[in-house]
Amino acid sequence: MNHISSETLRKISHPVNVSAIGPNVESLAGYAPSLLPGQLGDRGFCREIGIRYPYLGGSMAKGISSVAMVEALGQAGMLGFFGAAGLAFAEVEAAVDRLTMAGVPCGFNLIHSPQEPDLEAALAELYILKNVQLVEASAFLSLTLPLVRYRTHGIHRAANGEIVVPNRIIAKVSREELAEKFLSPPPEKLLRQLLDEGAITAEQAELSARIPMAQEITAEADSGGHTDNRPAIALFPTIASVAGRMEQKFGYDVKLRVGLAGGVATPAAAAAAFAMGAAYIMTGSVNQACVESGTSTAVRKMLAETRQADVTMAPAADMFEMGVNVQVLKRGTMFPMRAAKLYDLYRNHDGLDGIPVAERDKLEKTLFQAKLDDIWRDTQAYFLKRDPRQVERAASDPKHRMALVFRWYLGQAAHWAKDGAPGRMMDYQVWCGPAMGAFNEWVAGSFLEMPEQRRVATVARNILFGASVLTRANMLRYQNVQLPADFTVKPFEDTEIKEYFA
Ligand SMILES: Cc1cc2nc3c(=O)[nH]c(=O)nc-3n(C[C@H](O)[C@H](O)[C@H](O)COP(=O)(O)O)c2cc1C
Repeated sequence: MNHISSETLRKISHPVNVSAIGPNVESLAGYAPSLLPGQLGDRGFCREIGIRYPYLGGSMAKGISSVAMVEALGQAGMLGFFGAAGLAFAEVEAAVDRLTMAGVPCGFNLIHSPQEPDLEAALAELYILKNVQLVEASAFLSLTLPLVRYRTHGIHRAANGEIVVPNRIIAKVSREELAEKFLSPPPEKLLRQLLDEGAITAEQAELSARIPMAQEITAEADSGGHTDNRPAIALFPTIASVAGRMEQKFGYDVKLRVGLAGGVATPAAAAAAFAMGAAYIMTGSVNQACVESGTSTAVRKMLAETRQADVTMAPAADMFEMGVNVQVLKRGTMFPMRAAKLYDLYRNHDGLDGIPVAERDKLEKTLFQAKLDDIWRDTQAYFLKRDPRQVERAASDPKHRMALVFRWYLGQAAHWAKDGAPGRMMDYQVWCGPAMGAFNEWVAGSFLEMPEQRRVATVARNILFGASVLTRANMLRYQNVQLPADFTVKPFEDTEIKEYFA
């Protein structure tokens, strides 16, 4: 085993060629060729998307992945997805206009909305109308008509015979069955429906049967927000093998690719993702902690103090009745406990009137801070404008009315956090995964420890730079060169590493 000199160690900390010299100066103990951040991941993917680095900022609902964040990532040669979920239509439209004006590579979230199918269709139409050519599709359980319509819009054959598909979908999945669906051509039944509606021509339907719904899928492991809590190192190889099978089965003209999200917020995690063959990495939790995110200063401060065990699962507002959970912060807020209490009451009672008086009093004093009847009045007014069918159903179904009232609390809790509502800290719903704790541990003692220093592109560059260095350190390890057990790469100011991103 060869011990490495401190001089070599210093050199290894930058991704240029380095030879580790053995105890005898003439002997070469190991060699680690240069590896710059721009060489990580899938080069073809970066080229096609128009970015320089295989780093994607995932969509974060309610504009938490904000216009400013997407713009900053785009300017840095990376890609951000605007967090369209949960926003009013006009807000998404304004974000599309602003980012189009900015002229940077960017994408938008197209989220499946089982409760509001009209909204999903309207968003897909907006993206088509505004010529948005890249969306992140998420929360889909199967492929829907609006999604297929988006993907196949404008498909044609070029003069050289190549199939040109203007609209690209990067789909986020955590299950094999869903990966299969996205990596397959659009379902025939939906293509026929589009043909019947006159949305596509017969030639377009025929071409559409030869392309995958998504050329890229992001395997989403244990993450902030909606998650199946799968470990990244278990999930990624499985999803990658689905991609291999689908490529063989359909013999597409294009290469299928798989990226990795969930748990990535450190150089070591990024290096591991690329070592497994990830075409790109996608981050989320750590970006919410950055200054450009659309959340509040109060939440950014909470996130800066988060450790890995400070997250837990809690009922989700959008799929509350189905018992779906999301991963949230538990430190500094009572939201997870309170939301779980509501789900418990929902399961055990047929309507608000069935809740014992003492329990109802407690809810009105603590969680709702208002009479439940008043909350129902507000909720009703909201749904009368947005989706009157909900109000109709609630009139004859007291359990549905209870669900809508409880979902009011879950929905507001996310707003209170995002707005930094001072009297509501105990109710903040902050979506967050264990990656946040990993990041905080990594940057402890560096300038990135301070929330106000966390700029999304600086964080991204450090994760990529560190991944290059750690990958090279491993090359030396495989050659029997011994590195210190705690060998790591601490964060650098942008000016210190800019030459590696030139
Ligand atoms: C605050 C927050 C909001 C999120 N909202 C969405 C969303 O609206 N749509 C979506 O596809 N993913 C959403 N995600 C998931 C991220 O896009 C990303 O896939 C995930 O956070 C990556 O895992 P990580 O949290 O471990 O970094 C959200 C994540 C967070 C932390």
